[in-house]
Amino acid sequence: MGKDVIIACDFSSAQDTFDFLDKFKDEKPFVKIGMELYYSEGPSIVREIKKRGHKIFLDLKLHDIPNTVKKSMKVLSKLNVDMTNVHAAGTVEMMKAALEGLTREDGTRPILIAVTQLTSTSEERMQNELLINASINDTIVKYAKNAKEAGLDGVVCSPLEAGMVKDNCGKEFMTVTPGVRFADGDAGDQVRVTTPETAKKIGSDYIVVGRPITAADDPVAAYRRCVAEFVG
Ligand code: C5P
Repeated sequence: MGKDVIIACDFSSAQDTFDFLDKFKDEKPFVKIGMELYYSEGPSIVREIKKRGHKIFLDLKLHDIPNTVKKSMKVLSKLNVDMTNVHAAGTVEMMKAALEGLTREDGTRPILIAVTQLTSTSEERMQNELLINASINDTIVKYAKNAKEAGLDGVVCSPLEAGMVKDNCGKEFMTVTPGVRFADGDAGDQVRVTTPETAKKIGSDYIVVGRPITAADDPVAAYRRCVAEFVG
C-alpha cells in the first residue's frame, strides 16, 4: 500500500484551485475535492483536475438509502476518481450497495472508504443527541469493522485513532487521516492533531493536509516537507 500526502483543496472556485495547482511544476500531488468545490463547480472540476494528471479523492460522504447510494456511486465511477467515501452510519447494507455501484463492468473501481464518527462529534453529543449508548472509541471501531465487513478498503479517522483501527481491522485496512499539523505550525480549529511524522509512526496510510499547505507562504515547500516527514 503506497503511503501518500493528499492536499485538501478547500477552495471555493475552480480558478482559485487552478491558481494553487499551477504552483506545482515538478510534482502532481494527490488532491481532495470536497463538497464546497464540487457543489459550486460540478463534475467538470473533477475532469479538469484529472486532465492535469492529479489523483483525486472525491470527499462527498454519501449517506442515503442503499439504492440511491448505489446509483449515485455508479455515476461517480464514471468520473474516474481514485478514492471516494460514504458514512459508515448508513449501515453495512448501504456500504455494500455503494461498493456495487462503484465497481465498473471490468471489475475496477476507486478506493472506497467510510467516515466513522466525524471528529466534530463529541462523545457527549453522540450519546445525548444520537442516543448511541457506547464510548466514541467503541463506536469508531464498530463502524470500521462494519466497513470492513461490507468490503470497503478502509476508513477516514483521526491519526490518533488509526492505531486502534489497525489493531481491530488488520494492517491492510486503510486509514486516511486529516488533522495533521507541523510541529511548529498553527493548529487552527483542529483539536486533536499530530505531525506527519507521528501519523506515519501510528500507521496512517494517507494523510489529508489542507491549510498547512494551502495557506503556507510557499505551498510547494510545505508539501515537500510533508512528503519528506510522512513518506520519508
Ligand atoms: O486545513 P486542514 O488541514 O484542517 O484540512 C483538513 C481537511 O480534512 C478538511 O478538508 C476537512 O474538512 C477534512 N476533514 C477533517 N476532519 C474530519 C474529516 C475531514 O479535518 N474528521
